[in-house]
Amino acid sequence: MASYVAAIDQGTTSTRTMIFDHSGQVVASDQREHKQIFPKAGWVEHDAEEIWANTRATAAGALAGADLTAGDIAAVGITNQRETTLVWDRRTGKPVYNAIVWQDTRTDRIIGELGALGGGQERYRDRTGLPLATYFSGPKIKWILDNVEGVRERAENGDLLFGNMDTWVLWNMTGGVDGGIHVTDPTNASRTLLMDLDTLSWDESIAADMGIPMSMLPEIRSSSETYGTTRERGALGGVPIAGILGDQQAATFGQACLSVGEAKNTYGTGNFVLLNTGTDKVMSQNGLLTTVCYKIGSKDTVYALEGSIAVTGSLVQWLRDNLKMISSAAEIEEHARTVEDNGGAYIVPAFSGLFAPYWRSDARGAVVGLTRYVNKGHLCRAVLEATGFQTREVIDAMNADSGVPLKTLKVDGGMVVNDLLMQFQADILGVSVIRPKVNETTALGAAYAAGLAVGFWESEDDIRSNWAEDRRWEPSMDESRREREYRNWKKAVTRTFDWVEDGD
Ligand SMILES: Nc1ncnc2c1ncn2[C@@H]1O[C@H](COP(=O)(O)OP(=O)(O)OP(=O)(O)O)[C@@H](O)[C@H]1O
Ligand SMILES: [Mg+2]
Repeated sequence: MASYVAAIDQGTTSTRTMIFDHSGQVVASDQREHKQIFPKAGWVEHDAEEIWANTRATAAGALAGADLTAGDIAAVGITNQRETTLVWDRRTGKPVYNAIVWQDTRTDRIIGELGALGGGQERYRDRTGLPLATYFSGPKIKWILDNVEGVRERAENGDLLFGNMDTWVLWNMTGGVDGGIHVTDPTNASRTLLMDLDTLSWDESIAADMGIPMSMLPEIRSSSETYGTTRERGALGGVPIAGILGDQQAATFGQACLSVGEAKNTYGTGNFVLLNTGTDKVMSQNGLLTTVCYKIGSKDTVYALEGSIAVTGSLVQWLRDNLKMISSAAEIEEHARTVEDNGGAYIVPAFSGLFAPYWRSDARGAVVGLTRYVNKGHLCRAVLEATGFQTREVIDAMNADSGVPLKTLKVDGGMVVNDLLMQFQADILGVSVIRPKVNETTALGAAYAAGLAVGFWESEDDIRSNWAEDRRWEPSMDESRREREYRNWKKAVTRTFDWVEDGD
């Protein structure tokens, strides 16, 4: 009897394979980073073949780490960086271009042109729940079709496939050119600007606006069902693949935010707050996205409101890799602790424009409030505070949309080991911040989706009972200081607007 479930977490910076037992504990994990390719300012790409090689290597590594074989694994789930866009040839399995990453802003001009067809940024909001923005997949597909030589003709002949990373990994794991299955789930599809949120099917008229042939698009299945079996020669050979959730929805599921009004915030490359709104599709009046939270088999679709923040943990990486101010991410906390406050400095990391709640592709990053007094400690603190402030902005938007103020915030992801940041987060929000015992909620959520489909877990109650609190931070900043700091932040944000003109 197979006693474990595996999850492949194909993230923005790395690919992980994790193996979980029935209580949701991590039994084994293996991880490989892939190259971040920056061909020019605002462009971000990944090599999809490197990612597939890392997927194979980490699957083998995780199994070996726990001395398990494929026979010990009841099911595999896949979770992935969302929106990142790949087009490949169905007969050779070769990508026609690097994957264009969600942070990439090259489609700036395309979204302007689509908006000019009528409706501006809100053109597809009713149908897709999304504003027109560089973030989403559809315009990235259009860019590849328009700009890579010969590709449009091959696409129109039916030779090319589109997928986000879930689809790419799953197609390869199920055989690739030799019978690979071309599917996705509604959480990923809801980030393309091409899916109708009510019917969970592709909207042909939007695809036509973007000049995307329907034959490229994967079949949309639920988030939890058996799609196929892994090819025999893989380390995980012969195991059903039975769950797909975009990384942020997976984390929401893994955090057991399974009832209306429950929310989580994941602190990774960027930050993503998701609020479960149940079977109601709540349209935001305050700059949030409406998105699919999950669809378990034939059950009703569950929706979420989402506040997406493009740059949080990656600002720490930028301080480390580009400015070389710190040698590891963990070191930032030591420097931040050498000072009492930010010394008046604020860093607004609008590297990919600003996502929620602003959706300004014309914004670029700014450091403001500098004086001769400001030192390295202040800047390190300002980097961490940027994450806390940006979170406050999307939580304010969420409270306004839902009418019910959030009382506690469940958190997870790589940055939540940072005690100073977590305390600042509680302070600037004025609510308790709670971290679970299993912080790998993204992989765990995908494992749950797969395990539910094959009966390894019986119901969502298993997920609720596996969740346990590890640590909690309570607000201690006085109200007047909190609001003064937040006002300064808001002013700093306005300094980033209108920087890029005419897409240059
Ligand atoms: N001690 C720390 N303090 C602050 N930030 C940290 C710390 N440790 C890690 N980080 C940041 O956390 C991020 C990594 O988080 P995590 O591992 O959740 O991301 P990820 O899941 O790999 O991201 P993705 O899925 O997008 O690839 C990095 O951006 C890193 O800079
Ligand atoms: Mg991740």
